[in-house]
Amino acid sequence: MRTIRTVGELRTAVRSWRSDHEAGPSLREDRPSVPEDRPSLQEDRQVGLVPTMGALHEGHLSLVRQAAADCGLVVVSVFVNPTQFGPGEDLGGYPRDEARDFELASAAGAQLFFAPPPEVVYPPGFDTRVEVGGLTGTLDGDPSRRGAGHFRGVTTVVTKLLNMAQPDVAYFGQKDAQQALVIRKLVRDLDLPVRIEIGPTVRAADGLALSSRNAYLESHERPRALGLSRALAAGQRTVAGGQRDGAAVLAAARAELDAAGVEPEYLELRSATDLSPVERVNGSTLLVVAARVGRARLIDNAVLGDT
Ligand code: PAJ
Repeated sequence: MRTIRTVGELRTAVRSWRSDHEAGPSLREDRPSVPEDRPSLQEDRQVGLVPTMGALHEGHLSLVRQAAADCGLVVVSVFVNPTQFGPGEDLGGYPRDEARDFELASAAGAQLFFAPPPEVVYPPGFDTRVEVGGLTGTLDGDPSRRGAGHFRGVTTVVTKLLNMAQPDVAYFGQKDAQQALVIRKLVRDLDLPVRIEIGPTVRAADGLALSSRNAYLESHERPRALGLSRALAAGQRTVAGGQRDGAAVLAAARAELDAAGVEPEYLELRSATDLSPVERVNGSTLLVVAARVGRARLIDNAVLGDT
């Protein structure tokens, strides 16, 4: 795997890989014995991008492995994006270990490790933002929480990363359900020529959703942090037992948070397609939770009622 610091180098590396792997019409005619419908040949020529802020864990690496299974060239970007952090947030203390990230991304099957310095992404004079409407003013985007500015930072940097690497496919995690919906909308609204794949949430054995921010948890805080995944599991059990009333599902989830001593920033049922509030659980409902545990602000979610 190769480390890349500039947009020019990244473009050159991706372009030269594409031209080496492009199967033009002549090549296809030369290989009449290859069945048209063999997907691997097509997918082998695809470029995949996995955007991250580093401090890589199994959640990130599951996306890299999925990308490596689907694509011939996998780019992992590691960039702690300052524009998505609010003034009082953890930009300065965000965990960083590039050498470790490099080894992990390489072992998971990436070929290019794009780790640009901030001035490459935001050079002097940079003054443009990409803002997705509708989904970004609620939940984490609520003005009392991270605010829409957080998602503006995310969609601005993701648009830039997509333009820099020009992948065929970009991979994101369901762990950040609202972010995944916002990115799908970004790509749809701006006709960005990329396919978005959303990978499932990877959890520790005890149920805690993996997150770079779990590094902030003191060992004595972990039982409290587990309240979030326990609350989601209780909601899922309630729905699996036939209950469809939202208030009853939320009460079951809330009881687990109470038992863990966790006061949520939010615990809500929302549509899995547009985040609109849901009163009865239907085919695609998200149970979403956010809570502060010690220094860590944790978020988690479960999809209810689609089994
Ligand atoms: P980061 O928090 O580093 O996450 C990078 C990607 O990994 C995101 O798509 C996130 O949803 C996914 N991910 C994180 N934890 C996961 C888990 N436990 N299971 C599955 N996937 C998980 O999200 C960001 O960075 C940034 O906002 C970014 C998109 C890179 C833009 O700066």
